[in-house]
Amino acid sequence: AHEGPLTVAVDGPSGSGKSSVSKGVARRLGLAYLDTGAMYRAATWWCLRRGEDLTDQVAVARAVRVMPLVMGLDPSAPTVHVDGTDVGEAIRSTEISTAVSAVATNLDVRAELRRLQRAVIDAERTPEGYAGGRGVVAEGRDITTVVAPDADVRVLLTASEEARLARRSLDVHGTADAAAVEATKDQVLRRDRDDATVSQFHVAADGVVTVDSSDLDLEQTVDAVLAVVTQVTGRV
Ligand code: DC
Repeated sequence: AHEGPLTVAVDGPSGSGKSSVSKGVARRLGLAYLDTGAMYRAATWWCLRRGEDLTDQVAVARAVRVMPLVMGLDPSAPTVHVDGTDVGEAIRSTEISTAVSAVATNLDVRAELRRLQRAVIDAERTPEGYAGGRGVVAEGRDITTVVAPDADVRVLLTASEEARLARRSLDVHGTADAAAVEATKDQVLRRDRDDATVSQFHVAADGVVTVDSSDLDLEQTVDAVLAVVTQVTGRV
């Protein structure tokens, strides 16, 4: 059976329930939690606050390289600070959600954030890590494929388009009635399309286990991912 540090990589499209599920898995296993989407959002917040033109790829990449970013890894209360400011709420705004693709498709930004993400994942495999060396659940779009292809456990979380839209609508509008779902649709589908230009996250890469959450609630999905952890590592 697997002992020692555990790196769990979780990818999936928006509305797959990836964040809630990853936090739940991290809590159950006593691991740290890294939300890499929040890092792209924080980078977007930082660039906008500095007045960068998001279409200026060179300026944006330069700004991101000097971003003072601190990720809090507690799965029960993850935090994001940029230059000492708690941006946890601000990075969820419509302004950031609309602008983030421009930053996330910048290849130099991706290289820089990938470097930071790997540094966190590596640190979490040492006693100095937030979780004391137990490891981390890292979630995003390219964790299983690019950031941590050698993770102990790699999961692609999928859900039907219908389920994803309903969840995102609940998140954003507090309801999943027809009008709210329709209002969410454009944004979600456009973001997926933009995101797909940098990483192919709808198809599981070799060795990645797909978990379909369409017909599962949060707790059931957490259990399904924990079952994958047990199956792959022998750990219970
Ligand atoms: O998961 P999210 O909605 O917070 O992600 C925000 C944006 O960052 C979204 O456009 C996808 C992008 N992203 C990415 O390109 N790579 C990652 N590892 C995580 C997120």
